[in-house]
Amino acid sequence: MPRYEGRLELTWTNKHERLLAHDDGSYEWLPPSDYRVAEVRLLNNVETVGDVSKRRAEDNLLICGDALHALTSLTKLPEFKSEYLGKVKLVYIDPPFNTGQLFPHYDDALEHSVWLTMLRDRLLQIRDLLAPDGSVWVHLDDVEGHRARAVLDEVLTTDCFVGEVIWEKTDARKMDAQAFSSAHDRILVYSRNSDFRLNRHQVNARKKDFPHVDSEGRRYSRRELRKWGKNSLRKDRPTMGYGIEAPDGSVVYPIRPDGEEGCWRWHRPTYEANLDRIDWVDRIGQLEPYVKTYHEVGKSPLPSKSVWRVEEFGGNPAAREESKALFPGLEPFATPKPEGLIGEIIFLSSQPGDIVLDCFAGSGTTAAVAHKMGRRWVTVERSSETVETFTLPRLHKVVAGEDAGGISIAEVPAGEGLPESVKPGEPKVAAKVLNALAEAGTFEEVDGLDRDLVRTLVRVLRTADKTTKTTLWHGGGGFRVLDVAPSMFEADQGLVFLGDWMTNGVLAEATAAQLGFNLESVPPFVGRKGRTRLAVIDGVVNETVVRMLTSALTDDERVVVCGTGIDPDARQVLRALRPGSTLRKIPAALLDRYRSPRLTRTVAGNDSRLARVED
Ligand SMILES: C[S@@+](CC[C@H](N)C(=O)[O-])C[C@H]1O[C@@H](n2cnc3c(N)ncnc32)[C@H](O)[C@@H]1O
Repeated sequence: MPRYEGRLELTWTNKHERLLAHDDGSYEWLPPSDYRVAEVRLLNNVETVGDVSKRRAEDNLLICGDALHALTSLTKLPEFKSEYLGKVKLVYIDPPFNTGQLFPHYDDALEHSVWLTMLRDRLLQIRDLLAPDGSVWVHLDDVEGHRARAVLDEVLTTDCFVGEVIWEKTDARKMDAQAFSSAHDRILVYSRNSDFRLNRHQVNARKKDFPHVDSEGRRYSRRELRKWGKNSLRKDRPTMGYGIEAPDGSVVYPIRPDGEEGCWRWHRPTYEANLDRIDWVDRIGQLEPYVKTYHEVGKSPLPSKSVWRVEEFGGNPAAREESKALFPGLEPFATPKPEGLIGEIIFLSSQPGDIVLDCFAGSGTTAAVAHKMGRRWVTVERSSETVETFTLPRLHKVVAGEDAGGISIAEVPAGEGLPESVKPGEPKVAAKVLNALAEAGTFEEVDGLDRDLVRTLVRVLRTADKTTKTTLWHGGGGFRVLDVAPSMFEADQGLVFLGDWMTNGVLAEATAAQLGFNLESVPPFVGRKGRTRLAVIDGVVNETVVRMLTSALTDDERVVVCGTGIDPDARQVLRALRPGSTLRKIPAALLDRYRSPRLTRTVAGNDSRLARVED
């Protein structure tokens, strides 16, 4: 037997490490267990806008801070964990593409390994948040797109690759392009599970989508009854590999003439119940069964195509116009995406009420569109300047109904004054075709059709096709603004301290977060996990404190006591009074939790608020 070793993967420098982002945009490599990347940060309240509920985890959230910390908080803080873990239906991310440019609002020039680590780490967090029928859409261009796909394969598996959307971002050409004038971005789509389905638009299909006609004149499309691929091997699925009698009397199995095995899509009973949907097609002398899908007027929703044109969903110029309309007089955000594009993604992959997440908010397009489409949303932005200038004011306007751009307005051809045989929208299409032919010089040789006449015709066609504008969004709803709290620790010359602000309530809250306790203030306790209570003491825990705490427990409860100082006898007393209870010294016990090899032992006596970092 040949021996196989290794696996298909993309490797890069420091792949096993994690990255900490600094405020100046630089990154630092750290082991995954280092508290600086593993700590669970609190989320502080900043403001509420519009209508919000009593529980902040149930509200729409604009989180200001680094995506690493924000996603860790959503995944690990008990308050948010129950609402988000495995429950997010759609994640759309439009991270910096690593184009090597410095944009006015953020830098986009990272070393490839840094960029890949950043993406891999966010994807790992996103995977935990995704619902079983959820999907993640990663918007990129050619710089990192191919490497990102390898990383996505690794984190979400190749079986969960849904497809790649080519989004035409402009129909203009860059005349100074050295080679191609780049006109598209790519959006990589992966699902949490391999049986993922996209929603479809309820528009009537065109004839070419149902190209075949049966003996009664009904139109249909067809696909093979056979399935191929690694999960469709006849030998692995014996009940799906039965023989079928063809109209010429031959018996057909799901095996190609070259011997490649597949299986049928249906079990035999389903096949036998649907014989009227089987179309036998002659494939070079062999009859093959196909499944027919009939066109039903008004009931044949179309699957989305993988190429999205600028005229359908808008391009970068439209997005900049939307940004200008929202913020008159301001230099528009550098890289906004058009609302039409995000609207299509949200439509295809979620339903009203579902949670949509974007942890690279920029000007806040995803949140704005999700809000207007009745989805719940969470968005994260690291740059406080971007939040203050674009994201927050935009979302304020959405709630107030003062955002009259993008998907807030539907412009529909009215058809007023058109002859009966001409449908609304057709004159505009004719104008476009005429214009394109004129641009290409098609009419130059035609007598009497000079340039001015064609221009006049184009203008007449355009104005004949009047449109009416309908406002679809009138405001409503609300959201909360949260800040990623600073670390509970401070480090200086090899020592890690509890930050000065870590006293009383904040210390209790932060400690509960690190240990995964629900905050539940029933003095003298601050948290609960099942039958275990949490007590956090900013001071020395001695025998008196232990007796007071244990006397407040019910018979079947235990307690985890955390103190900034510990009297050596207290531990023994606690064990004797309430077996199964523990006494922990903070910050050392919290740092040990991250199992960092560099953070090991407590120093400087019993009442110290510090621990030593071993280099
Ligand atoms: C390409 S822009 C997103 C544009 C957005 N789709 C829109 O329509 O406006 C990327 C954004 O991600 C932000 N960003 C970069 N790194 C981040 C991080 N680690 N955490 C959170 N935001 C980050 C940048 O500040 C920038 O605003």
